[in-house]
Amino acid sequence: MKRAGLIISTFDPVNEGHLQLARVLKEKYGLSEVWFAAVDEDCEADFSNRYIMLKRALSPRRGWRTVNYANCRDRKSVLEKLSSAHRSVAFICPGHQTGDPELGNVTYVTEELNDQAAQVRKGDFRWIGKPVRRYIMEKGLYADSIATEPLKPHRQLHVRSVARLSAEIARRNHLDERKAWLAGLYHDIAKDLDDETSLMYMKLYYPNRLKENRAVWHQFVARRLLERYYRMTDEEILKAVENHCLGEDEAPLSMIIYCADKLEPLRGYDSSREIELCCRDLKKGFQEVHRQQDAYLLKTGVKKLPAGS
Ligand SMILES: [Fe+2]
Ligand SMILES: [Fe+2]
Repeated sequence: MKRAGLIISTFDPVNEGHLQLARVLKEKYGLSEVWFAAVDEDCEADFSNRYIMLKRALSPRRGWRTVNYANCRDRKSVLEKLSSAHRSVAFICPGHQTGDPELGNVTYVTEELNDQAAQVRKGDFRWIGKPVRRYIMEKGLYADSIATEPLKPHRQLHVRSVARLSAEIARRNHLDERKAWLAGLYHDIAKDLDDETSLMYMKLYYPNRLKENRAVWHQFVARRLLERYYRMTDEEILKAVENHCLGEDEAPLSMIIYCADKLEPLRGYDSSREIELCCRDLKKGFQEVHRQQDAYLLKTGVKKLPAGS
């Protein structure tokens, strides 16, 4: 009789804790296969996204397979369905829980699952591999907590406000609202990063911009952080984040994020005229906000006049 491990979890998302448990099961019980079955209890990501992440995480491994029971809401129904559909398989299932049915071909064993899903949802991506990181960023899963967790409370409010205004400007200009919302959320992700890490990123990726005022470094660092650590691949979002302080890029999304960052209502001054201008004509709004911002930066000394001017 074939023996297989059976891990039932929400996989929201699948992470190193699940993979470690699969390795332990295989080794300890001499199994040729481990099956992963997702259940639907209290999940942030929907079933299809969690299932695709599982497929991506398991794809390079032989003998690890996913079971697609989208309509199984809980552990008990997954166990009953699997047990009757695969009578020739002896399942080794970790963690005997209250309510688990007594089934002839299922043996419950005591093994710890070190589930790191909650940390991953807050942006601690050390527990997931590159394919799952890419998928999370591509779909914008857990975006609010990933973008705000590294930030101080007042900045969390700021990035949410920028995201809302960005989506509104995008909508009024017939552009992609969802993408604008995501770029707005992520634009300050490096703002509260420690000096040492910021300097490391600047030396590595932008040695020729080290002379820029430190107040704008976070736009550069955020882009590389999103690209290298979180594995974001959307070049429009990356460019918008990379240009949100200095406004050096005139792609539509870059202009939106630059303007929304300066005009969002929580900034505490009346920006309704400029917001309306951005909504009616993004290019004109961008030029106006840029003009005002440059004057402000010169006054505060963040930006220097070019030599000779
Ligand atoms: Fe910023
Ligand atoms: Fe900002």
